[in-house]
Amino acid sequence: RLLVVDFGSQVTQLIARRLRELNVYCEIHPYQTLTDARLRDIAPQAVILSGGPDSVTRDGSPRAPQSLFEMGVPVFGICYGQQVMMEQLGGRVEAGHHAEYGRAFVTPAPGHRKDGIFAGLAEREQVWMSHGDRVTQLAPGFEVIGTSPNAPFAITADESRGFYAVQFHPEVHHTPNGRQMLENFVRLAGFTGDWTMAAYKDEAIRKIRDQVGDRKVICGLSGGVDSSVAAVLIHEAIGDQLTCVFVDHGLLRLNEAEEVVTMFRDHYNIPLIHADEADLFLGALEGISDPEVKRKTIGKLFIDVFQREAGKIDGAEFLAQGTLYPDVIESVSFSGGPSVTIKSHHNVGGLPEKMGLKLVEPLRELFKDEVRELGRELGLPSTFIGRHPFPGPGLAIRCPGEITRDKLEILRKADAVFIDQIRRHGLYDEIWQAFVAILPVRTVGVMGDGRTYDYACALRAVTSVDGMTADYYPFTHDFLGETATRIINEVKGINRVTYDITSKPPGTIEWE
Ligand code: XMP
Repeated sequence: RLLVVDFGSQVTQLIARRLRELNVYCEIHPYQTLTDARLRDIAPQAVILSGGPDSVTRDGSPRAPQSLFEMGVPVFGICYGQQVMMEQLGGRVEAGHHAEYGRAFVTPAPGHRKDGIFAGLAEREQVWMSHGDRVTQLAPGFEVIGTSPNAPFAITADESRGFYAVQFHPEVHHTPNGRQMLENFVRLAGFTGDWTMAAYKDEAIRKIRDQVGDRKVICGLSGGVDSSVAAVLIHEAIGDQLTCVFVDHGLLRLNEAEEVVTMFRDHYNIPLIHADEADLFLGALEGISDPEVKRKTIGKLFIDVFQREAGKIDGAEFLAQGTLYPDVIESVSFSGGPSVTIKSHHNVGGLPEKMGLKLVEPLRELFKDEVRELGRELGLPSTFIGRHPFPGPGLAIRCPGEITRDKLEILRKADAVFIDQIRRHGLYDEIWQAFVAILPVRTVGVMGDGRTYDYACALRAVTSVDGMTADYYPFTHDFLGETATRIINEVKGINRVTYDITSKPPGTIEWE
């Protein structure tokens, strides 16, 4: 395994992600937890030292255990990691006179071979610099093997010991061939790249068993990809020590609740409590049309119901969450351990403390596409794994104005037709998210010989990489025409269909 020592860089997880892409198994350990004994236990085959926000010139700033450099294994230092290496191995680092941030170009130093760490790289490579301090004297045994105009020590190495130290961040997107450099390092360190998501799954299962022992775990299941993958994974690890709680707020899509219950209870045999609370939620939402009040009402009831149902599970000590890496802002604070913040709209935020439960978060190292891969590894159906995101407050925020059962019924049917159209035309996977919103207006139409006075609806379909920005999907006019006709013919209560062509920004993806 490869050890990544975390000095608190915001992008440490990207190092892990690059390594997983190279099929190399790695573990991230915060620098504070690494004692000599711990290092011997981990027995890494190679080490990467991450970047970090501190300055090695500051008294008491983070260091790696000195024994790490005496284990006879290759070490790669990035940014702060480079400076730690220089400082601890006998070189000198000074606080920079001017900080350098952003794009730079590195070239191999004269006389340096185009193999080893440079294999497959061009004579001039774009890299992303982000540092305030600079190396002023190399540690004994090191030499400069790559330079950039403002960074004479851009890449330094003691190749006899397999030590490399770079001033830039090879793990980030803005170092386009950084992955190649990391690949060169892991190959030099003897990794063959035979690690897979199947192995990750086994490791994750082992960790869950270690953490939980023979105690009980509750998992809030929403039917979304993340909580589903977490539930199936935990069930593989500890079987019926896991109980899932599915709070059904009556704001799900057509047949969605049944599908969730069937899949988890019947197919996977996972103990599942289905809290069917449509009456409670819809009752509380009566007369409310303000979007934020809707969200708050649903959020509060959700927690009440979840807590009530979870309270029925005797002796549960853990709460499982499908938290992903992007949900976690982790930093190694200088006084204590890593601190964690979860996105504020997380459904069960605040619950663990309130209920005195410890957290099990088996996906917190993964990015969304890796969760999907893990889901496939666990045998979840591909239609399920590729599903578009669905917001916690569900259809409530796709029904501007007051929510009524009638409107929800109409909305569900129209949404199902739209999604069916998208699947039939093979467009589902090209689209980030697609849905129908039912509008709080009725308009006049004519069908057969009669006048109609029914709701208008809006179709929404967007492309996006992360939901932060989005653009409308360019359907053909034929597709839009056919979809409008089907919705009006198949869904009683709608007589007008519009297509929302707003991008985000200035619009948002949801209507509320
Ligand atoms: P917006 O509408 O802000 O949506 O462009 C971005 C992404 O977030 C989802 N979304 C929510 N998810 N609770 C959630 O769990 C919410 O209150 C919420 N609001 C929006 C939305 O579906 C899209 O994927």
